[in-house]
Amino acid sequence: MSDKATLEVNGQKHEFPLITGTENEIAIDIKTLRATTGGVITIDPGYKNTGSCESAITFLDGEKGILRYRGYAIEDLAEKASFLEVAFLLIFGELPDAEELEKFHSDIKAQSLVDDDIRKIIDAFPKSAHPMGVLSSLTSALTAFNPSSVNVDSEEDMYNSVVKILGKFPVLVAWTLRKKHGLPLDYGDNSLGYVENVLKMMFHKPNEEYIQNQIVVDALDKLLILHADHEQNCSTSTVRIVGSSHAGLFASLSAGISALWGPLHGGANQAVLEMLEAIKEDGGDTKKYMAKAKDKEDPFRLMGFGHRVYKNFDPRAKIIKGSADEVLEDLGIEDSILDIAKGLEQEALNDDYFVKRKLYPNVDFYSGIIYRAMGIPTEMFTVMFALGRLPGWIAQWREMRLNKEPIGRPRQLYVGETHRTFVNLKKR
Ligand code: CMC
Repeated sequence: MSDKATLEVNGQKHEFPLITGTENEIAIDIKTLRATTGGVITIDPGYKNTGSCESAITFLDGEKGILRYRGYAIEDLAEKASFLEVAFLLIFGELPDAEELEKFHSDIKAQSLVDDDIRKIIDAFPKSAHPMGVLSSLTSALTAFNPSSVNVDSEEDMYNSVVKILGKFPVLVAWTLRKKHGLPLDYGDNSLGYVENVLKMMFHKPNEEYIQNQIVVDALDKLLILHADHEQNCSTSTVRIVGSSHAGLFASLSAGISALWGPLHGGANQAVLEMLEAIKEDGGDTKKYMAKAKDKEDPFRLMGFGHRVYKNFDPRAKIIKGSADEVLEDLGIEDSILDIAKGLEQEALNDDYFVKRKLYPNVDFYSGIIYRAMGIPTEMFTVMFALGRLPGWIAQWREMRLNKEPIGRPRQLYVGETHRTFVNLKKR
């Protein structure tokens, strides 16, 4: 096979090298395109065919339904590893040994205090504020309280910023929920595991002992692992592109949180639950909503279905579906929403419209049902996604900085007015 691609522009042939990844994916390297063709660019809205970087973090094959972090299958990690082990793996490239994991956790715990003045910012938000807006603002505010976090000239500086955010972020997540519930803000308990501490920080009441439920701890650990990275999705690309201007890690993450908030991305988990609730309230007529999803005149889409990259079952959805059954059974919860979800899935999998377009359930289709069983309010679902995605964002930001990637700055094809003569206001 040739190792070059040839492009003919205005009768002139130009050759570009082909690069092959470790999983034999092929890319045309067009770095010299503008220089050799006299300014010709490519157009690719939504970047459906454009690789923005070379990355060694996550591999996914959307046709075969494969997802691996640093070479390890998502199924193995979800079953056998802890969220903190997976965070270490994503960020530093290897699974930690017991000593490395212990040090990582204790460095994170040492940084888990959030400046008490941040409470004043939270106080200024209305109780009705969406938790994602609050979380994004607070994450951005962290830069003001930790100005040195912007200087990441050495691996050590970078490490310090990484453990800082891994320590402080769960506190901010918990505070967004506590604010909503009118509970006092506090700092959790550093004697607990990372995920146990998150749950305690979120739910404990000042006048009651908080008792951990191992089923809930394990289910949350698994959900966080499944959300931990997904290569160059919308929020991750946002984090990389903001970080490429050498804005700090926290500012880049804040931008990523805003990107994740949208219902076409992480906000879909909230949208799925709201959709299932609406179907239930409307008498559970799934056929009616299937018809709406297929009607091109109707803006309604079947939330939790379809994916830019997966044209097969999202492997995360398979694991989460199994988990939803287990968690609800273990907690003794009967939720008719789960039956509606399963009914919709069956209909969609047998429907020509969905089959032809290869639309399968994605990670968000069943996750909300588990969050709901854990007592997490619907508006917090995307915040939980952000908590899971944090190590992935960090890993991708770190890789971008270590690779010394140039500032992200796409080109455009201008299609507006050509030069016009200015007319003074009085004469218009
Ligand atoms: N319901 C009905 N039709 C759909 C859906 C859906 N959920 N998703 C895609 N389609 C149709 C779409 O109308 C189009 O049809 P046609 O070819 O006739 O114009 C075709 O399928 C291709 O869709 P697309 O919008 O061009 O695909 P995309 O890659 O740009 O969008 C997506 C991917 C995830 C934004 C889209 O499938 C969607 O809006 N799904 C619902 C929202 C959702 O669940 N998002 C969570 C994604 S997974 C979590 C994450 O990683 O963010």
